[in-house]
Amino acid sequence: MNILITGGTGLIGKHLTQLLLSKGHHVSLLSRKKEATPNVKIYQWDIEKGIIDTDALKNIDYIIHLAGAGIADKRWTDKRKQEIIDSRIKPIKMLNQHLKEQKTRVKAFISASGIGFYGGDTGETRLDENSPAGDDFIATCTKIWEEETEKFTQAERTVSLRTGIVLSDDGGALPKLLQPIKLGIGSPLGSGKQWMSWIHIDDMCQLYLQAIEDFKMNGFYNAVAPAPVRNEEMTKIAAEILKRPLWTPNVPAFLLKMLFGELSVVVLGGNYVKNKRVSEELSFSYKFTSVETALKNLLK
Ligand SMILES: NC(=O)c1ccc[n+]([C@@H]2O[C@H](COP(=O)([O-])OP(=O)(O)OC[C@H]3O[C@@H](n4cnc5c(N)ncnc54)[C@H](OP(=O)(O)O)[C@@H]3O)[C@@H](O)[C@H]2O)c1
Repeated sequence: MNILITGGTGLIGKHLTQLLLSKGHHVSLLSRKKEATPNVKIYQWDIEKGIIDTDALKNIDYIIHLAGAGIADKRWTDKRKQEIIDSRIKPIKMLNQHLKEQKTRVKAFISASGIGFYGGDTGETRLDENSPAGDDFIATCTKIWEEETEKFTQAERTVSLRTGIVLSDDGGALPKLLQPIKLGIGSPLGSGKQWMSWIHIDDMCQLYLQAIEDFKMNGFYNAVAPAPVRNEEMTKIAAEILKRPLWTPNVPAFLLKMLFGELSVVVLGGNYVKNKRVSEELSFSYKFTSVETALKNLLK
């Protein structure tokens, strides 16, 4: 199959590209830069200016939409919030419009989404795909992102993967969590009681592959492992594997709020998200169901 990935140079995209190539698929990327990736064709776009190399859309069977400004990369000013939304929504509109002009459709439009859909901090509530959207910035952004995905008329079906915290050793949240632990000054953040609904990068990529191959997949799915853990548990397990002591007390919440402002919800808040649709509707077998095995694999 010919698969086009937007934002394919990022964490998930890099791993997913390798998985798809290993399965014999043809992969091309839509990127803002001209970074060479072996065995992959790179097309360019400028989302702000609405410019796209329309050759990118020729003979494409599937589109995977991963592009978006990093949610936790910068403080959430009004300008940054708009950038986070626009960088996810505008590409969907652009791709749909260009396919329409070329009078063609793809077999599926598969988009990243996030468990932020339920809100940045949902405490002890158990959430599944039937739970309502939250009402903070991250929830509002994710809701708009999914609504735009569902409006993608130039695809036979659409899928949104509400992604949890992707655990990988080469990007995302884990290296940031490990940094202080490696220095021997790691400790849980805030109360440490916040839930972290995580997924190993290998399982994340397998879910994207399944979303391509399984034509029954439609709508939104929580892309999380079956067993969320609290921040203090994740920190403790990582420290044990790395054989580093933990620093006490916990990093105070007020300090994190001062440093990160509204963005601090990303580390102080949490969600307990259940993989209801994946476990009940798909024949999907996780490689990593416990955080111990996931971290041991990544930190070996
Ligand atoms: N990783 C996680 O834990 C996680 C959790 C929940 C949801 N997600 C979502 O899953 C998707 C992929 O995640 P990821 O971790 O692979 O992300 P990532 O590493 O940040 O990569 C995203 C890619 O998007 C493109 N991009 C960055 N800023 C952009 C901007 N301002 N406008 C347009 N494109 C931009 C870049 O590709 P080019 O430079 O090639 O254009 C970048 O490589 C994202 O939408 C993310 O929000 C990820």
